[in-house]
Amino acid sequence: MTAPLPSDSPANTPDSTAETRFGFGRNWQRFRRQLTPARLERAEQSLRQFWLDREELSFLDAGSGSGTFSLVARRLGAKVHSFDYDADSVACTAALKNEFFANDPNWTVESGSVLDRDYLRSLGQFDIVYSWGVLHHTGAMWEACRNILLPLKPGGLLVVALYNNQGWKSRVWTAIKRFYCSSTLGRWLVTGLFVPGFLLAFFLADLLRFRNPFKRYEQSHDPRGMSVVTDIIDWIGGYPFEVATPDEVVAFYSRFGLALKQQTLTTGLGCSEFVFVGSESFSAPDDESSG
Ligand SMILES: C[S@@+](CC[C@H](N)C(=O)[O-])C[C@H]1O[C@@H](n2cnc3c(N)ncnc32)[C@H](O)[C@@H]1O
Repeated sequence: MTAPLPSDSPANTPDSTAETRFGFGRNWQRFRRQLTPARLERAEQSLRQFWLDREELSFLDAGSGSGTFSLVARRLGAKVHSFDYDADSVACTAALKNEFFANDPNWTVESGSVLDRDYLRSLGQFDIVYSWGVLHHTGAMWEACRNILLPLKPGGLLVVALYNNQGWKSRVWTAIKRFYCSSTLGRWLVTGLFVPGFLLAFFLADLLRFRNPFKRYEQSHDPRGMSVVTDIIDWIGGYPFEVATPDEVVAFYSRFGLALKQQTLTTGLGCSEFVFVGSESFSAPDDESSG
């Protein structure tokens, strides 16, 4: 296959060498202190929606962040490999491993990048390749989307979540996130404006739906067990930032022979999740120009 990567949508500003980056790992380290059994239960339910019933299942957590989903996958019996580009995310995942699975040879944690094809090739192949909310933060989303196929076993599952393309809104958010990451002043201003703004919006939305507005702080405000403030900060600061429409994502992976198994789409801010299955004869594109 020699077709080009999908053209960058107007909202996208790919730059894999961007030095302006959000400190994801620092945010994940704050989240770790809030990782309650109830949140882990939610995270487990989210993996069970597509989990494979296989002997000696292997799970690759590409861009592991806090390490929550690696932990849950290990608890479900998989052999897990976690990696992340951000040193603080790697440290967070390693600390979680040490807390729950110290000295376990069936869970490895290291530093790595989805933009490093040699690294991905060196990992071998996995039954489930999980990269949730990661590929759009690399600075080269479509390249990352292609690279993540390298460690996928024939017949394996690829689970990716990518930010929804909202046209001009995505372009505005790209500018806000870039400003957040540009300086201390940018961080303070964006945080001071948007953290209270989102908290107020959630509060009012809960009241309008006759829900207890404090419940989302005690338990979890999303189906994956994440926390309100961690999610808001991840959203306002998360840069590099790119977006995709569901059609683009499905068309992209179908060119490699992957079939869409399930999807959870959002129409607003946030990620759409896609679960693809590779055929038994699947082989990852090995040539950088392919795809
Ligand atoms: C929004 S977090 C998602 C974390 C985790 N997958 C989850 O679902 O909770 C994005 C993560 O992607 C990582 N990341 C960004 N660029 C990366 C790259 N090139 N290779 C690997 N990880 C990367 C960030 O460091 C961060 O930990």
